[in-house]
Amino acid sequence: MHPTKTICIVGVTGNQGGSVAQRFLQDPTYHVRGLTRDPSSSKAQELATQGIEIVQANLDDTSSLKSAFAGASIIFSVTNYWEPFFRADCRQKAAELGISCRKYAYNVEYQQGKNIADAAAATAETLDENGFIASTLSHAGRCSGGKFDELYHFDAKADVFPSYMQSNHPELARKMSCVQTGYFMSSYKLVPDAYFGRADDGSFEMTFPTAPDAPVPHFNVNADMGHFVYAVAKMPPGKSYMAEGTTCSWAEYMRLWSRVNSVPASYRRISLEELIDRTPDAEFGGEVGDMFAYSTEPGYDGGERELLHAADIRKAGIDCPMTSLEQWMKKEDWSSVLQKA
Ligand SMILES: NC(=O)c1ccc[n+]([C@@H]2O[C@H](COP(=O)([O-])OP(=O)(O)OC[C@H]3O[C@@H](n4cnc5c(N)ncnc54)[C@H](OP(=O)(O)O)[C@@H]3O)[C@@H](O)[C@H]2O)c1
Repeated sequence: MHPTKTICIVGVTGNQGGSVAQRFLQDPTYHVRGLTRDPSSSKAQELATQGIEIVQANLDDTSSLKSAFAGASIIFSVTNYWEPFFRADCRQKAAELGISCRKYAYNVEYQQGKNIADAAAATAETLDENGFIASTLSHAGRCSGGKFDELYHFDAKADVFPSYMQSNHPELARKMSCVQTGYFMSSYKLVPDAYFGRADDGSFEMTFPTAPDAPVPHFNVNADMGHFVYAVAKMPPGKSYMAEGTTCSWAEYMRLWSRVNSVPASYRRISLEELIDRTPDAEFGGEVGDMFAYSTEPGYDGGERELLHAADIRKAGIDCPMTSLEQWMKKEDWSSVLQKA
């Protein structure tokens, strides 16, 4: 069968876009096109050998995005707050501008999101009825009534998807679905000591500023973003989703982890200040600490209880397999955490 549709994937060399590419590759009706800044990277080359059309584009350059998106049936959009947050040259520029690196990364991610939206609007007529699928998060500033007005990696996404799209590209916004993503299950590798520290008695202890009973969504991004986006593409447009395999509290997470690994483990809530004190990069501590605190009230999803989940997609008769937290934990190699002194 010859492909009749083209899906254009932003971030194809990354976690989310990579997963989306692998799922759409399995459907011969799709030609898969992936965007990268560097088509010669080993990851991009590897994807090319799988049959993915690799095109050079930069999220800072709208004209490169317009060329890359031309003729698309579906566009998958993702932006990465953390690259401009961590890069040394971006820290330098933030200092020169007299703004925090958190705000600087907001500015970059927000602009990149707008560039994607503007470029996609140029090919709006070739897109399917539900042809623009954006990875985003809840708007922390608005959903918390202004309490969390510096949770920049949430608001940089939500200020574009959906807000900027709705006000500047209403026609394209009607073809859009917004997918919020839960806590990546793999994120423990970024801050292993916060996830699996040690209590005074030697048992494992997780310490975050989230209330012990607050439900949070957990998501196996590499395995399941593709399944989720593929399923969303079959739904009617204009809906908002939460991609997660299990929603449970951090205390429940640790009870499960304790059972899976047969070791004593528990959860203890700490203050935001304590988390920042413990984090070597205080700006990082502030950004993720706000996220953990926001996850208590109004909640990671901003209290938007009408978001659709995988179970709702299945109720519509569409296959949407997701990995549960328990399935993921049982498969994960925990030796490096368990062997830690
Ligand atoms: N960690 C979590 O628990 C969690 C939970 C929810 C949401 N998120 C969000 O997930 C996002 C990151 O997604 P991810 O994990 O899929 O990212 P990732 O694996 O770090 O990959 C980033 C991708 O973005 C592309 N990219 C970055 N800057 C670009 C630019 N200027 N032009 C073109 N492409 C560019 C990269 O492509 P090239 O390098 O090949 O150009 C790469 O494919 C973050 O914004 C974060 O807030 C994370």
